[in-house]
Amino acid sequence: MNPVGVFDSGVGGLSVLAALRAELPHERFVYFADTAFAPYGERGDAYVIERSRAVTGQLIREHGIKALVVACNTATTAAIHLLRAEHPALPIVGLEPALKPAVAASRTGHIAVLATRGTLASAKYAALRETFAGAATVRPVPCDGLVKAIEGFDAAAIETLCARYMAEAGPFGTGAGEVDTVVLGCTHYPLVQHVLQRHAPSALRFIDTGAAVALQTRRVLSALSRLAADGDDGALLLAGSGDLAALEAAAAHWLPPQARPIAVPAATIPG
Ligand code: DGL
Repeated sequence: MNPVGVFDSGVGGLSVLAALRAELPHERFVYFADTAFAPYGERGDAYVIERSRAVTGQLIREHGIKALVVACNTATTAAIHLLRAEHPALPIVGLEPALKPAVAASRTGHIAVLATRGTLASAKYAALRETFAGAATVRPVPCDGLVKAIEGFDAAAIETLCARYMAEAGPFGTGAGEVDTVVLGCTHYPLVQHVLQRHAPSALRFIDTGAAVALQTRRVLSALSRLAADGDDGALLLAGSGDLAALEAAAAHWLPPQARPIAVPAATIPG
């Protein structure tokens, strides 16, 4: 069976890949990190559209993917409609900030959405908010620089930025007017949830979309009879536009042991 392609601007989509590997252990995946062109979130739609097209084209040509998961909120909001129009035979699953479950879960009716500037400025996010916010107060928190800090394993910058953005997202609590639910609207952020958590009460609820996207991917593959058979090997291939050794190190660092690569990485694919 051909693999499912998964891509992000860098290592953030590994948080989605972990959920995909847990939900679909027999599927083959090829994970493409566009690190030579990251971050996407502060660069504007035209750039993100061009990169999303290029990466999708490479995944089709080089790996014959049978489905695509756009494991990046920023790329989904900017480009998924174009990718679907250009590749009508390819099932494409995207991500968007989990506003609906957050509004449903919040008791105070105050939620914060941590995401890239690009995602929060997009028409798709505005529509999402319009549809699902209802009476809830939704505080957008663009987290400039956080993706870059995570990509660079820069622990000091991660700490400083998490503290800054959590201060902007709060005040937290269960009282009137307090935020009790935080949406992680960028796939990089679940990787540092433990750091964000240090700046919030332990009862604060964080919501991300990894598990929901994995379930949706299962549904889509199943509906098209493209699910891998139970005996298939579930291999994972790492590919990207940047340094593959660094990507392997990042995968070893960020992925839980059971989701780590069991195949030799592909040769670097130029951007
Ligand atoms: N991980 C991506 C997202 O979910 C974007 C990160 C970036 O490149 O800015 O939005």
